[in-house]
Amino acid sequence: MSRKRVAVLISGRGSNFQALAKAARAPDYPAEIVLVVSDREEAAGLAIAEAEGIATRTVPYRAIGNKSLAESEVLKALAEARVELVCLAGFMRVLSPGFVDAWHDRMINIHPSLLPAFPGLDTHRRALEASVAEHGCTVHFVSSEVDSGPIIAQAKVPVLPGDTPESLAARVLIEEHRLYPEALRLVASGKVKPERG
Ligand code: GRF
Repeated sequence: MSRKRVAVLISGRGSNFQALAKAARAPDYPAEIVLVVSDREEAAGLAIAEAEGIATRTVPYRAIGNKSLAESEVLKALAEARVELVCLAGFMRVLSPGFVDAWHDRMINIHPSLLPAFPGLDTHRRALEASVAEHGCTVHFVSSEVDSGPIIAQAKVPVLPGDTPESLAARVLIEEHRLYPEALRLVASGKVKPERG
């Protein structure tokens, strides 16, 4: 079995990356994580990658000060590592349409809500304010509009009385760590492809 070469783009904690890396340790998993790219050198996920023996690359967007230059560095790193699929996992930069086009159908993202509900930031607080009974997370192909694109998989959690954004986030995160490896498995093995309209 040839395993898809995957890069994970992060900005912070990296717990979803860690869940993907753990799943990819199984010999029958159809993807291997070959690179972690961060836009911030202090991202905790970089240390996790180093401990796992996974190559890392920091592209310091802020210091570079020019999004298109920074993106070309990311694209170059992906090309050098012969990456075939990109997973966004808490990467806090909006990608330009050119980047999204370059990875069209080959880039997926995890978002902490049941899309199309609550795209954007602060999803748990907004879900509580909207008094929804259920919340959750979504893995989807990336298209140029933020937090949109064909949905690959979703996981639901109940919203419980007394929930705070933090307690709800923790419940959703457990599902994220289960869902993302499952969704990457489907994409890497070719079982799921984006629908074409
Ligand atoms: C996760 O909640 C993910 O859904 C969102 O950003 C958070 C990243 O967390 N896109 P981590 O860095 O994977 O721990």
